[in-house]
This record gives sequence, C-alpha cells and structure tokens, in this order.
Amino acid sequence: MDIRVEKGKPERYPCELLLLFSFESPESSEGPVQRVDSEWKGFISDLMREGDFKGELFQCSLLHTRGALPAKRVVLAGLGRREEFDLEKWRGASAKAVQFIRDSGLKQLACPLGRFDTFSLGELSESFVTGFLLGTYQYNDFKTLDRDKIKEIEEVILLGETDEEVHGIGEGLRVGRIISEAVCMARDLVNGPSNRVTPTALAEKAREMARDHAMEIQVLEMSEAEAMGMGAFAAVAKGSQEPGKFIVLEYNKGRELDTIALVGKGITFDSGGLSIKPSDKMERMKDDMSGAAAVMAAMGAAAQLRIPFHLVGIMPTTENLPDGKAYKPGDILKTLSGQTVEVISTDAEGRLILSDALTYSLRYQPKAVIDLATLTGACVIALGDYIAGLFGNDEALLKRVEEASRKTGERVWRLPLWDEYFEFLQSDVADFRNSGTRSGGAIIGAIFLSKFAGKVPWVHIDIAGPASIEKERPYIPRGGTGVGVRLLIQLLRDWGFQNSLLVRNEAML
Ligand code: BES
Ligand code: MN
Ligand code: ZN
Repeated sequence: MDIRVEKGKPERYPCELLLLFSFESPESSEGPVQRVDSEWKGFISDLMREGDFKGELFQCSLLHTRGALPAKRVVLAGLGRREEFDLEKWRGASAKAVQFIRDSGLKQLACPLGRFDTFSLGELSESFVTGFLLGTYQYNDFKTLDRDKIKEIEEVILLGETDEEVHGIGEGLRVGRIISEAVCMARDLVNGPSNRVTPTALAEKAREMARDHAMEIQVLEMSEAEAMGMGAFAAVAKGSQEPGKFIVLEYNKGRELDTIALVGKGITFDSGGLSIKPSDKMERMKDDMSGAAAVMAAMGAAAQLRIPFHLVGIMPTTENLPDGKAYKPGDILKTLSGQTVEVISTDAEGRLILSDALTYSLRYQPKAVIDLATLTGACVIALGDYIAGLFGNDEALLKRVEEASRKTGERVWRLPLWDEYFEFLQSDVADFRNSGTRSGGAIIGAIFLSKFAGKVPWVHIDIAGPASIEKERPYIPRGGTGVGVRLLIQLLRDWGFQNSLLVRNEAML
C-alpha cells in the first residue's frame, strides 16, 4: 500500500475518493467537512439535518459528487459524540472507514487530517495510520483460489494544508507505519501454521530482522542450551523432532544505555505433550508463540524507532509434543537457576521454558524484565478474550505498563501475586511443581514465574486471551492480533523519552 502526505485543501483536491470524518450533528460542521460542505452548497448539512447521515460512530456513507467538487466521490464516516472522542475510537473509525471503502471495491482515497482538541497532529495521524493498517490486515498467504477477488486498498493520501501540518502528519505516518507493520508481522507469525512457523523458521526470521535493523543475534541450539543448564527448556523441546531454538536479539548492544529485557513464550505448537489436550480447538494452539512473535516484532520496531535502550529480546522456541523422548509427569528438571521442578503436567510447559529464559535474562543485569506469554487458559476464563492479565513485583513498572495500556487500547488488568497460593506449587520431591490447582490458575502460573525473576523489576503479561480472537474488532480482524507489540513500544517510547530528558537535564547541571 502506498501511503503518502500531500499539501492540499480537501475542497480543492482532485481524487477518486475523499474520506471525511464527522461527529454527530450539530457540533459536527467544522474543519475540513465544513469547508467541503460549503463548497458543496450545504449538501452534507442537508443530509445530516434530514437524518440520512447522522455521524454515528463507525457509520459510513458513499456519495458521488457529480462534478460539484474536484473529488469524484466522498465517503462520510461517523465519529460519534464529540465529547466521547478518544484515540481508540479514532483508530476504530479509521479502520471501519477504510474497510468500507475497500469492501466497496475502491482502491484509492485521500483524507484531510487537521489538529483537533488536545490531540496533536502527529498523534492523530499516527492513530489514523495505525487504525487503517491494522484494520485492513488480511492473511492470505495460503489462499490459492479466487485470488483476484481479494480486495485491497492501493493508495492513501493524507492531506495537510500547511508545510507544518504536512510535517506533523508525515512524522505520525512514519511512526504509525513502523509500529503497524511490526504488529502485522507478529500477526503473520501467529496466523502462520505450525508446520511453517517452526522454531527454525522463527530463528530465520529473527536473523533476517537482525540484518535489516542492525541488531545482534544469537541462536542457541538445543545442545548448547542443554550444556548451559537450561534443563526445563530442554525437557520441553525433547518431545518433538523439530529442533528447538533459544533466540536472543539485541539492539544497542555494547552502548552505555540501560538494559531492558523482553521475554516471549515461543511454543510453536502446544499439544499439551503427554498430558495431551482435548482435540477440540487444539488447532488454536499454533498461537502459543504469540509472546515470542510480539517480542520479535517489537524489537524490530524499537530498532527502527531508535529507542534509547539496550534491548534484549529473549525467545525460547520449541514445540510441545508427546514424542518418544518426551518429558513425563513425575520427571524432575533442573532449571538454569539451579532450582528444581517436579513436572505434574506436561501441558504447563510455558512456565518451564520461561523459567530458563527469565534466569537467562538476568545475565544482562536489566533494569526491567517484561515477559509476554499465552500462559494459562485460566486467564482467559478470568478476563476473556480482550484483556491480558498483568502481574509484577514492581509498582513503578506496573504503572508504566498500565499507562502504555491506556494509551494503546491494549487492555491489561492487574492480578495479584500474593503468596497464599504458593502452597499449591510446593512439591514433596523438588523445589516446586509446575502446576497447582485449576482455580486461580493464572495467578499460580505467575507465581511460578516470579521465582525465576530474581530481584529485578519484572512484569508478566498473560496474553492467552487476546493473542488471537474469534470475533473481529474494529481494527483487529479475526485470528492472530499481534497483541503486545504496541504496548511494548509505547512503554519504551514514553520511558525512553523520559530517559533522554533526564540525561539532557543531567548534562545541563
Ligand atoms: N498454552 C496454554 C495456555 C492457553 C490455553 C493459551 C488456552 C490460550 C488458550 C498453556 O501451555 C497451558 O496449557 N496451560 C495450562 C496450564 C495448566 C496445565 C496448569 C492450562 O491453562 O490449562
Ligand atoms: Mn500447555
Ligand atoms: Zn502453552
């Protein structure tokens, strides 16, 4: 898709289609829509007065101008009530409008963007771009029939009226595109089937990203991981013929910057192992590498955005299958931390591979460790498909994540790590068992992880619900969502910004 910014007035701009947003009447008639309206002899306000276009959120209407304007067509898109407007609604409205245009079989659009309310032009443009790029995402890699029926938008022109506006819109476009493309990459990896998206394929993708975005990469083979002492990760990987890979991406390596570690669960298929899952919905378990996909994509975006941190992305990747050498319930594993784990369920494999990954992350002496994992079905029961569970040992870090969540609309909700439930992880024969009771499962999983996070500020985000969804949302189609990418980037951007201010202030003193 070709997206660019041009200087121009909407009422004077010749194009196939002009996209205009409007609030519900009567407050609606201001900005670009008002000027087009007066050029059009009040046609739009007539429609609104008659109730033919009300400006309700996500409402869309296609109109032909029949020569009254340089634009051939106009799509009016509703923003709902002005006092309820926020960037999340804006992303949704942008997605819905561009979907409407695409589904009408049109391929080009021009859309004026202006500063509005307390929102900067950069923010508005970034959110608009995010909304429509994420909202028009499709996964068609394996569709071979009727490919010509696949509808796609080819050209989007964002209109600014002054050089300053063009610049602001351009900056929003640049950032919004980097982040959205990263989200789409994560979605592709999640939607990709496990016979394609293997640990080897993920390692290959990470290598490609390292090349493209000037990052360092290290891929530990299973022999190396085992020799290093990653007994938990190695045990899970042994149940499959497909070799596991322990992937480590680094950005800004060797520079004098604070280190932040991002850890993502990378189970490319979770059959449950010998504690095998019921076959119903088992196909969904290809999404069990969503945490790793989010980390990999966020690393790439962070590098393109030049986030001022030394970032370490750690992705333990393997299948969880019940092959002849598979680990078994009752086995005792020695983790990289030295602590031992009695396996109760081979289906609680995520916390095993993450325990070694978390321990490994501590080698970098990070200021913070953030892990993302499709860890527990219990978290889906607790919070549903749209909200991730948030756990952590550091209030300041938790608050940062919550703030990034508020800004991006990637919902998280805090759950406790209270010690009461630790008793369910106590083992007669080892330091811990890998699973406790069904009830409180999300918390128990998080408590298990906490034992491997040492004393560093750490948060765990259980994305089992939002990693993939069955019912589409305004800018999230069905399937893999790429959840976590925008959250991580927002967290790093805001934090990095504060960091650079701090460094600058210190330099001034
Ligand atoms: N990958 C699953 C969790 C999951 C379930 C993600 C449903 C998305 C949708 C995880 O490995 C798992 O199987 N967890 C078990 C843990 C239990 C055995 C302690 C679960 O949630 O049942
Ligand atoms: Mn499992
Ligand atoms: Zn799993």
